[in-house]
Amino acid sequence: MSKTKETNQSWGGRFSEPVDAFVARFTASVGFDQRLYRQDIRGSLAHARMLARTGILSDRELNSIVQGLIEIEKAIEDGDFVWSEALEDVHMNIEARLTDKIGITGKKLHTGRSRNDQVATDIRLWLRDEIDVIADELTRLQAGILELAEKHVDTIMPGFTHLQTAQPVTFGHHLMAWYEMLDRDFGRLADCRKRLNRSPLGAAALAGTTYPIDRHFTAGELDFDGPTRNSLDSVSDRDFAIEFCAFASVLMTHLSRASEELILWASAQFNFIDLPDRFCTGSSIMPQKKNPDVPELVRGKTGRVNGHLIALLTLMKSQPLAYNKDNQEDKEPLFDTVDTVRDSLRAFADMIPAIQANKAAMREAARRGFSTATDLADYLVRRGLPFRDAHEVVGSAVAFGVKQQRDLAEMSLDELQTFSPQIEADVFEVLTLEGSVAARNHIGGTAPEQVRTAITEAREHLSGR
Ligand code: ARG
Repeated sequence: MSKTKETNQSWGGRFSEPVDAFVARFTASVGFDQRLYRQDIRGSLAHARMLARTGILSDRELNSIVQGLIEIEKAIEDGDFVWSEALEDVHMNIEARLTDKIGITGKKLHTGRSRNDQVATDIRLWLRDEIDVIADELTRLQAGILELAEKHVDTIMPGFTHLQTAQPVTFGHHLMAWYEMLDRDFGRLADCRKRLNRSPLGAAALAGTTYPIDRHFTAGELDFDGPTRNSLDSVSDRDFAIEFCAFASVLMTHLSRASEELILWASAQFNFIDLPDRFCTGSSIMPQKKNPDVPELVRGKTGRVNGHLIALLTLMKSQPLAYNKDNQEDKEPLFDTVDTVRDSLRAFADMIPAIQANKAAMREAARRGFSTATDLADYLVRRGLPFRDAHEVVGSAVAFGVKQQRDLAEMSLDELQTFSPQIEADVFEVLTLEGSVAARNHIGGTAPEQVRTAITEAREHLSGR
């Protein structure tokens, strides 16, 4: 086995031989955790200021640490920072560079902390920033749905159960169902943010530290709601990342359902909608094709997000207190979940308000599918028939219509009366699609009046966020 030339300086004292070159590569995380550099520096600045306030560092030492860290951040941003695998992770890379720059004072930064509370702080800060971006994208998507729903408050389409035509609904009502799903997702995200927003800094390796640190100060500097309460828990649990991934899985599941509907609706068979060309691709062999790639990919990406949730749950399962190196494996699934969710939301938020609905095709599909059959049954109930008998009567009328290839509204009064003498001329009002949706006029119903109210309330709700 080959050996690296030098022992890692951060713990050289205890070791009699350098770490194996392969092991150095196997245990290193800098290839991916360098993504945390901004949060790592922010955490170090807060820690250093606290050390100076409590007299552990002098003001002169603080100034040179602050100066050094600011320069390092700039070097990273400018692409002038060389990351070293031998230095394992983002934390030791930055600390080693600081010591190179400012000398012995750099070595004092790590007083009263450990990489264990450092990384726990960094991921929380990083995820909190990402949550805020995702919350904005989610809000933008919800607003886009409202925009499209508003245009289609009284556009009639078939509502489905079992993907069979069930009852007429309005397209606006259908879109508002998506809005509701996403609104609960937003609630889950906000809830996750609230719980993660505690500072683990000061938990040190696992038991706390003997230095007179001020955890409230560092928590405040980093905009946390306060310090965490137990040092062992602080450095070890990644439940906040699991919660985020659970939120992400449910969100992606919702987006996959909407995707599936968009894909169906855009097909020649449904022809309910037209997706803007800029969100579709063609086929290299079939000139007529316009493929709904964006919703298909969002549907497909749900798989990897669900996988990452399982990865994190399995990573955490059975881990004894406190920190274990297993936790280094939390980052890649979390990063990829964030990237996937951000991209998927962006694609949806751009695409949804640009959708064109084919109202005539939607209406025709609702008309063809005997979607007002329940309305006829309800009509007969209002005339005194028990619901089960009414159901039977309408069933026979539908069977007749299927044979004749005619909708209920296209039958004559005489024909309808052969199924029940209770049917009179006013029946045609309930057999129209407009009459059917307008009649479902209560909170949560599909009547245009209700959908309009739901949209107005949703607008107010979003503007208060
Ligand atoms: N790179 C490590 C991680 O991501 C940092 C913490 C390492 N702590 C340790 N005791 N080895 O978890």
